[in-house]
Amino acid sequence: MDSALGSNELRIDRERLWATLEASARIGPGRAGGLRRLALDDADREMRDLFVAWCREAGLTVTVDRVGNIAARRPGREPELPPVVIGSHLDTQVAGGRYDGILGVLSGLEVIRTLNERGIETRRPIELIDWSNEEGARFTPPMLASGAFAGLHPVDWVLGRRDDDGKVFGEELARIGYAGEAPVGGRPLDAYFELHIEQGPILEAEGVPLGIVTGGYATRGFNIDIRGENAHSGPTPMAKRRNALVGAGYLIVAVNEIGWQFAEGEGKATAARLEVWPNKAGILSDWAQLTCDFRHPDPAATAEMERLLKAAIPEAARKARVEIEIVEDWTFGDERFDAACIGLVRESAAELGVPARDILSQAGHDAYHLSRICPTALLFTPCRDGVTHNEAEHIELDDTAPGVDVLLHAVLKRANR
Ligand code: GLV
Ligand code: MN
Ligand code: MN
Ligand code: MN
Repeated sequence: MDSALGSNELRIDRERLWATLEASARIGPGRAGGLRRLALDDADREMRDLFVAWCREAGLTVTVDRVGNIAARRPGREPELPPVVIGSHLDTQVAGGRYDGILGVLSGLEVIRTLNERGIETRRPIELIDWSNEEGARFTPPMLASGAFAGLHPVDWVLGRRDDDGKVFGEELARIGYAGEAPVGGRPLDAYFELHIEQGPILEAEGVPLGIVTGGYATRGFNIDIRGENAHSGPTPMAKRRNALVGAGYLIVAVNEIGWQFAEGEGKATAARLEVWPNKAGILSDWAQLTCDFRHPDPAATAEMERLLKAAIPEAARKARVEIEIVEDWTFGDERFDAACIGLVRESAAELGVPARDILSQAGHDAYHLSRICPTALLFTPCRDGVTHNEAEHIELDDTAPGVDVLLHAVLKRANR
């Protein structure tokens, strides 16, 4: 075994990490230098194929579960012990960056490559997981497949999710060759570590390369159906109209105003997605669906935002003469991460001399769902100006590599525990 085991000299190969990120950035190019790699599209398939090839080259055993999560395992000296897992996602937003999620998966690969290269064995197996459809950009809700793994969503419900074109999750998974046979979750994990870009401006502004995430903003998401009636946009009198799009409009304004009410306390409300049918000139729409979410560091405030949304619904329905109903909802972010795993991250950062600060996450991460089933830690690294869900998303290798070194040491400590 390598004498560097646990020693402060052990570092990742930062150039190799960068080259791996660059290879990923060529798959599913967007319009402006970023990525458009939606869950289960052809680019996602190509990226998955490359990821699996990389994992096999690294000597890992790859399995795919029924919702398409890819798990790649490095055996431990005691191979039957529950693994220490590193994970994140390789899918992107429609106009996404090159690093959101991707950095976490490929950092995990770099950790494993470093251990291999140094001949370092661990007591426990280490597993690397790419979670399907984290973004929720194609199939709502976000973090869909890690949610299934954690037992929050039934597998059949996940397989039946539809995108805006009516394409079905399970069929798309089969089409790209990733409808696996392994059961979804239901097995013990020793711990879960995820590294992610901050997606906010704090670390960069403070010149701190590592954020130790203690928890998240309590988040409530909703899919809301608005039902009206098709009619001609010319002869139909204003007083007789039941235009679903107009109902959605009133609701969108209400959602945004709730955001302003809570803005001082760092609350956020987002009307994010609107589907309208038939969405054509000359006809009033009879159906629309709005996706929105509310986030606040204080779960009681998020609950109040939800109450205000529910109070706004009858008012919007009355004004537009439509019916409005919440058809789906989801919750994440009020989890608090594990003290022991956070302790390993802190300890590793101190040993490596990597400056770190505690931070809360405002975005959704698979780590939230995992924290419900095993001890979990989430690490943030800086990104330029906090710009993300934008093709201009950018990181610097010098600001990123220290966090990945910390990930390496924390995982190594946990895997030898
Ligand atoms: C998903 O990642 C979200 O934060 O909405
Ligand atoms: Mn992400
Ligand atoms: Mn994202
Ligand atoms: Mn996310």
